[in-house]
Amino acid sequence: MDVKTDILIIGSGIASLQAARLLGQYFQVQIVTKSSVKTSSSYRAQGGIAAVTSPEDHIKFHITDTLSAGEYHHENKFVDVLIQDGMTIIQQLLLDGLPIDRLDNGEPALGLEGAHSHHRILHAGGDRTGQILIDYLLQHLSPNVHVNSNEMAFELLMNTDGACIGVLTKSDKGIKRYFAHHVILASGGAGALYSSTSNYSTNTGDGIALAYRAGAAISDMEFMQFHPSLLWCNGEAKGLVSEAVRGAGGIFVNAERQPIMAGVHPLLDLAPRHVTAHTLYIKRTFGQETFIDISSIQGFDNKFPTITKLCMDNGIDLQNGLIPVAPGSHFLMGGVIADDTGRTSISNLYAVGEVACTGVHGANRLASNSLLEGITFGQKMAQFIIKTGCKQTNFTLAVAHCHQSMPALLTKKNLQQIMMHTLGIVRNPLDMQLLIEQLPSLQILRQVNVMGLNQQQLELYMMHIVASLMVHAAITRTETRGAHIRNDKPNSEAKWAQRWIIFQQGQMKVRNSLYEYHQTRGNAQAIF
Ligand code: SIN
Repeated sequence: MDVKTDILIIGSGIASLQAARLLGQYFQVQIVTKSSVKTSSSYRAQGGIAAVTSPEDHIKFHITDTLSAGEYHHENKFVDVLIQDGMTIIQQLLLDGLPIDRLDNGEPALGLEGAHSHHRILHAGGDRTGQILIDYLLQHLSPNVHVNSNEMAFELLMNTDGACIGVLTKSDKGIKRYFAHHVILASGGAGALYSSTSNYSTNTGDGIALAYRAGAAISDMEFMQFHPSLLWCNGEAKGLVSEAVRGAGGIFVNAERQPIMAGVHPLLDLAPRHVTAHTLYIKRTFGQETFIDISSIQGFDNKFPTITKLCMDNGIDLQNGLIPVAPGSHFLMGGVIADDTGRTSISNLYAVGEVACTGVHGANRLASNSLLEGITFGQKMAQFIIKTGCKQTNFTLAVAHCHQSMPALLTKKNLQQIMMHTLGIVRNPLDMQLLIEQLPSLQILRQVNVMGLNQQQLELYMMHIVASLMVHAAITRTETRGAHIRNDKPNSEAKWAQRWIIFQQGQMKVRNSLYEYHQTRGNAQAIF
């Protein structure tokens, strides 16, 4: 079956819906999502939206915190855009009635999270920020926006000029071909490649795999962020215990209730995420259990209803004030290279939100900057597309060249366990080399003919592409920077500063800028 629309969006999180809300005023917008609009990382987001709204705060502080958390591996001009334009866009949303939590005097109730120098986290419904934000955006969609759930995008369609003109999807009802003037990847991250994760099991990096197959430029795949506090129950991660809990006074302790972060970092429990995650990882490696002590937080269940329910559902008694926690994968800084309007290296193909790599998160994202990113760049991308319009597009399909049959793959569980062990918080080159040998080569993976695969096979195949990009990047960057530690190279190295590991058209390159700039123009512009 063929569907023709103006704008096609793959994925349904915050960046997708923010863009759809604006694009739907002008165009027909079709969203396709692998599961449902309420199964995204955005919907699950607890902490909130980082944005400057108080007179004590300033965008220069927010920029400094962002650069410092990400260890200066940023595209600085887009960090400025994110923080500056983000502030304006959020302030407008507040004026329009976005229902955030407020103090008695009507001012926003601002939370504090790790590595933030000021209280600047806007939240809603206590820890139900993502839910309330998504519901708000859904209520503001025009009838021009249509959502098809439980459809998995598995192949980008390209025209004879090399531009993206659509996507193939698979569902229980079979295969559909969507054609559009603009195709937007907003499919989220890849936390589900790991056995312990805060993400939904559907976050398998599909958008990155689709873009890689099509030849788009991909970067920063070595940088997966680990959240220090996932609820840990019966040997499994069960969901997130927000950093906002520590912002409200919770502290990491061992089974004897001794503080864990004392003497590790001046910011103690609100140290940057890689510091807290690594500290808990080390404790747990030596057999200690790790908890958040919430006994000093008055009215915990009112402030954190989602976490309270998560604990109750998993049989955790909050009366004794201890929540068992362990680190797990949380957010991928890498992805499809895109600018602040979502443009990628392929014409008509856009990437926004976690699937994109715009360089705003550096090597380690600052807490609560991701909802800000989705809202800000979702809006800027929509404005760019509205300005561009839906002009005459060449809808003649290029001939497909993928003829390779599927190589042997690891099972999903096995891959997730190996990723946790090999590309987790602490990494070593021998294990990474072993993983490379266990995975089919990227050249072969890129050429696989995917037409006959079912949804499970497609997902596993895409996970292998993403895992392979991650391990190749991680072994290539012979230093420690940002979210993880290489035990053979425990420090950052000057030769790796401002170096990006890029995959494009089946090749890997190390470049000294995220974008290829047009050298001959005075006013440098990214060329895509
Ligand atoms: C959290 O609530 O701890 C997560 C927030 C984020 O990842 O930005």
